[in-house]
Amino acid sequence: MTINATVKEAGFQPASRISSIGVSEILKIGARAAAMKREGKPVIILGAGEPDFDTPEHVKQAASDAIHRGETKYTALDGTPELKKAIREKFQRENGLAYELDEITVATGAKQILFNAMMAALDPGDEVIIPTPYWTSYSDIVQICEGKPVLIACDASSGFRLTAEKLEAAITPRTRWVLLNSPSNPSGAAYSAADYRPLLEVLLRHPHVWLLVDDMYEHIVYDGFRFVTPAQLEPGLKNRTLTVNGVSKAYAMTGWRIGYAGGPRELIKAMAVVQSQATSCPSSISQAASVAALNGPQDFLKERTESFQRRRDLVVNGLNAIDGLDCRVPEGAFYTFAGCAGVLGKVTPSGKRIETDTDFCAYLLEDAHVAVVPGSAFGLSPFFRISYATSEAELKEALERIAAACERLS
Ligand SMILES: Cc1ncc(COP(=O)(O)O)c(C=O)c1O
Repeated sequence: MTINATVKEAGFQPASRISSIGVSEILKIGARAAAMKREGKPVIILGAGEPDFDTPEHVKQAASDAIHRGETKYTALDGTPELKKAIREKFQRENGLAYELDEITVATGAKQILFNAMMAALDPGDEVIIPTPYWTSYSDIVQICEGKPVLIACDASSGFRLTAEKLEAAITPRTRWVLLNSPSNPSGAAYSAADYRPLLEVLLRHPHVWLLVDDMYEHIVYDGFRFVTPAQLEPGLKNRTLTVNGVSKAYAMTGWRIGYAGGPRELIKAMAVVQSQATSCPSSISQAASVAALNGPQDFLKERTESFQRRRDLVVNGLNAIDGLDCRVPEGAFYTFAGCAGVLGKVTPSGKRIETDTDFCAYLLEDAHVAVVPGSAFGLSPFFRISYATSEAELKEALERIAAACERLS
């Protein structure tokens, strides 16, 4: 058989399910900031979504012990019995939620939990309601799974929270899921029981809609805020709610890659099918470490949260003292999401007009050497996100630089 010389080798063509997804704005800014640092510029990066604390010592020790016990093999597909039991206890103790072990799943980070859930549940074109500002991965994961993100703008006037009216208006016969995240990345806004109640009433009226709640920042709440999760608040929704959580943020374990969820058995089973062909199981060592995190002492969480609260106050007060910026006080997580409408239309010393939050963040990076992320990356403008999981000294320096940069605008 001869090969037709006119047939050309095909260049790489991304699949349509990922072609509309670009490299995230956060990664682009991070790369630019890192390049500037390499050039010797004193860049302060306030973009990272991870605590600056270390993983607790007893958790590291549990991982080391697991290695030396020989727990270095594949584990049960969606979590070891020991970890599932620790998660069952956690849900019962902290959330008043009773899940059986086969209603619990463990994955390589909460991100994979979300991916497994969407992959397991979405048919092409199924709609997923996502209030904005949102954690960027939500809409990208939905798109990769060939679903349709339905983005609903929730601005500062509603505390960046979804309202019952907006939720009701967004639901169609194609709606499969609503994704809620409290406290939120990027806004830090959290839903109290009273905030959740009207939304849950809407969902009770639409039995075809499932709820995914991302409780990743549950432990990082301020001013005595009382965290609640919907399946606890409205047992009538528990059989169509996936309650997602993980050890990454609370226990400073982002690199260990363990997330988990409780939800209806049939969904959990379908998620395991996805995981079985993606990773086979989460890391055995990280699972042993997570057992120690969930079963071990919890008192350091309070101390760390108090430290985050001091930094939140520093950043919120610092930003609100700057002409043109406006920052709501977040209830939780370690982010502020400040409005920058007041600087739009102004001109930088080099003569560039600031038209958007992306322009403003580019100006802060180039002129003040402070890396922050524009609201557009999270689906709501004109805002910018600061991650304050860094030292108070660095935060103070960054705030001074931002204030000086804003003063240089005309
Ligand atoms: C809201 C939210 N959910 C989930 C995750 C993912 O966590 P994990 O490290 O467990 O994948 C993040 C990480 O930034 C997050 O901000």
